[in-house]
Amino acid sequence: MKITKICCIGAGYVGGPTMAVIANKNPHIKVTIVDINQARIDAWNDPDASNLPIYEPGLAEIVEETRGKNLFFSTEIDKAIDESEMIFISVNTPTKTYGKGKGMAADLKYVELCARNIADVATTDKIIVEKSTLPVRTAQAIKSILDNTGSDVKFDILSNPEFLAEGTAIQDLLNPDRVLIGGESEDAIESLASIYGSWVPEHQILKTNVWSSELSKLTANAFLAQRISSINAISELCEKTEANVDEVAKAIGMDSRIGPKFLKSSVGFGGSCFQKDILNLVYIARSYNLHAVADYWEQVIILNDHQKRRFADHLISTLYNTVSGKKIGFLGWAFKKDTNDTRESAAIYVADHLLNEQANIAVYDPKVSNEKMQSDLNHLNTRTEEENSKLVQATKTPYEALKGAHAVAIMTEWDEFKTYDWKKIYSEMKKPAFIFDGRNILDKSEMENMGFEYSSIGQ
Ligand code: NAD
Ligand code: UGA
Repeated sequence: MKITKICCIGAGYVGGPTMAVIANKNPHIKVTIVDINQARIDAWNDPDASNLPIYEPGLAEIVEETRGKNLFFSTEIDKAIDESEMIFISVNTPTKTYGKGKGMAADLKYVELCARNIADVATTDKIIVEKSTLPVRTAQAIKSILDNTGSDVKFDILSNPEFLAEGTAIQDLLNPDRVLIGGESEDAIESLASIYGSWVPEHQILKTNVWSSELSKLTANAFLAQRISSINAISELCEKTEANVDEVAKAIGMDSRIGPKFLKSSVGFGGSCFQKDILNLVYIARSYNLHAVADYWEQVIILNDHQKRRFADHLISTLYNTVSGKKIGFLGWAFKKDTNDTRESAAIYVADHLLNEQANIAVYDPKVSNEKMQSDLNHLNTRTEEENSKLVQATKTPYEALKGAHAVAIMTEWDEFKTYDWKKIYSEMKKPAFIFDGRNILDKSEMENMGFEYSSIGQ
């Protein structure tokens, strides 16, 4: 099938950047990204590209270059579906918060709604591309909905999981390690492969069956998260033995069989996907009665929760076992640098724990608003909205957050944190002035020479 028009349902962290790059590299294809969220679409259409709903280095430039030419953002979902030959489903697949599989399984209601929407309005044959991360065998359910519309419209279903990481999304999309396409119909696979072929070398476009493709996505995230939990487990042992986790990571990472990436010990991984995808994997394994498999992967999450908790506990015990009424300055709220995304950020859970101990928290994050921080905390339902807003406040500058603070907690590895005037910060903090570096980004001896009591992860 010759593709001239693409529709992407879901204008989020994946749909937006992915389609912007596809449109940019395929000027002959009209790409329309649709969403039910009017405010999000309005933000994507904002003439000032600094107001896009998502912050990603390089994204605004690509959107500015392509928007209005062959890239469009719209809430007219039915129209975009009907006119396109290829439809990407890129909606959210969060962990279920109700019913069977609550807290574990992926909630597929948004994906199913998309399938039903397509079934309702399509009048010509379509290729449906699963871009969302889905449990293995979801394509079966989508196919069953689309095959039972009573019309003779034909649908081919492909799995094309996305491997981009936030903060580096544009670079990851422009230079992917691989593009994965799972499907049955060779023609449909070739149609999609040719779109990526505009900029991705052919040998990096991997073609598999649908189930391998769906399962590879969950497996990739599980392996990446497992590396972080593995090094974080070792970090605790380092603290007891005077080994240094960064030195250990370097030493093992130089073994080409292990490799250096994803060995940075931290306060714990966050983000919208690692936890959700592993929980989903665990749920699927349990549903096939594979309890040893399920327990193995669940441990990655257990260790991650432990890491966040022990960071907060260490802070409290170091501050003489009480943080009640003390000001703690947080640097960073996003789950990693170079993004405004805060989903499952370690900062939220560490803050919640400190608030239970009646701390006052002032937060500076270069890209996260006070409103977002409040909504993250309110979402936990630990205390009232009034209490959260009284105890936690975002500040306009880092110096405001740290002035008069008993301790600094570094929660995100934003580069700018390293360049602050730490002498000034020291002079304005309560003494002893403690730094808890949850990302190991500052230089221990430099900080100690200034007078700080510095502690980091695994050192
Ligand atoms: P997101 O929440 O940022 O965006 C999803 C969008 O879909 C929202 O704007 C929502 O309004 C819209 N939507 C939901 N139902 C809809 C419907 N029926 N019709 C139209 N729009 C609808 O989510 P995201 O981070 O972009 O993730 C999307 C999927 O991609 C998830 O399955 C996720 O696991 C996967 N993924 C995410 C990342 C990442 O870095 N965020 C990377 C790879 C894969
Ligand atoms: C991750 C994967 O890296 C992507 O390949 C995948 O597409 C995506 O999930 C997804 O499916 O959503 P992302 O969560 O955006 O991407 O970002 P990562 O760079 O993987 O970081 C995740 C978390 O792990 C962050 O909190 C980060 O700070 C932490 N991390 C990462 C560490 O603590 N140590 C490391 O060495 C690496």
